[in-house]
Amino acid sequence: MSGLRVIAEAPSNIALVKYMGKKDASRNIPENPSLSLTLSSLKSIVELILRDGSQGVSWIPQLPSLPGGCPGESPQLSSSGIQKVIKHVERVKLRLPVLFNEWKIPLHQQRFEKCQIILKTANTFPQASGIASSASSFAALTLAVGAAFSSSRKVFEEVWSKEPELRRAFAQISREGSGSSCRSFEGPWVEWNEDRAQLVSDSALDQLAHFVVLIKTDPKKVSSSEAHLRIKTSPLWTGRVQRTQDRVMRLKSAIQRGRIDEVSDIAWDEAWEMHSLFHTSQKPFTYWEPGSIHGLKYFSEPSESWPSAPIVTLDAGPNLHVLVLKKDQEYWRAQLKELFPQTSILEDSPGKGASLQFWEEQ
Ligand code: PMV
Repeated sequence: MSGLRVIAEAPSNIALVKYMGKKDASRNIPENPSLSLTLSSLKSIVELILRDGSQGVSWIPQLPSLPGGCPGESPQLSSSGIQKVIKHVERVKLRLPVLFNEWKIPLHQQRFEKCQIILKTANTFPQASGIASSASSFAALTLAVGAAFSSSRKVFEEVWSKEPELRRAFAQISREGSGSSCRSFEGPWVEWNEDRAQLVSDSALDQLAHFVVLIKTDPKKVSSSEAHLRIKTSPLWTGRVQRTQDRVMRLKSAIQRGRIDEVSDIAWDEAWEMHSLFHTSQKPFTYWEPGSIHGLKYFSEPSESWPSAPIVTLDAGPNLHVLVLKKDQEYWRAQLKELFPQTSILEDSPGKGASLQFWEEQ
């Protein structure tokens, strides 16, 4: 019996204009455009083993065997989580013949028709960190499945590295498994509108550093799928699409002109708006904890002594994400430590998106 082993990885991303509300839930088409920063070391790693001769897809709760060791933890997946993963593998497989044909990537016909797929996954951020792993894990999974059914690693990697449109086609498939995963295929800045996610070109912003203040790490009481539905019952929903379109336009312009102060203002307005939608839905809910409010209060009152404007946002959770100029990273690390002496703080930097790490015929 012969087979193949591939390992792909993809980072998480943090949105400054948020995906919240679906126009078509069956395909994860968003109500509004969003814009995010792709991260780097907060990522998921997926090992996919193909065994010729039998059939089926299974996920094993073990770390991928990366040469040199695999960072991170193997997540605990519920049975519905495992089903979602398996369904996504089937979804990606189904799309490959047309996609490969279009990009002249050779398909391994024999394996495509009959083989067993074994998956092992890891996240470099702990399950209890409150960082959503679905964006990074679905992006890495989509790439791993695609790479595994190519009969030529060389051709696949060449097209992958040279053709952003192939990455975007993978992002489209990934989106159907997890909406925000479509923004983890390129970087640093990615805009997602309707069914298309693509790089924001010509960023003139100086190097950034990313902090996550882990206010609380319990599982969410309201899932993001539920939040996507409930926010439309808020009286503040009216005009949201127009406002986000306007914010994405201004944010792109601020990124392209290198204006961190404007980026900071837009991200602040947007984070408050998304959380205000949560707070005013029928029925209302909140992800905020006392620590989130402590941080929001501090950042509400900009100080003359700040070296530059911090970009502050929260996802559908209580944790604070703070992006700052890399040159001011030490200053902000000290500030955050003083503000949150008992709290873990993760650090990362902007990245370039999903990549293939390993490919071996066995
Ligand atoms: O991809 P989902 O369905 O988990 O939605 C994620 C939504 C937010 O993280 C709250 C915002 C975003 O744009 O990432």
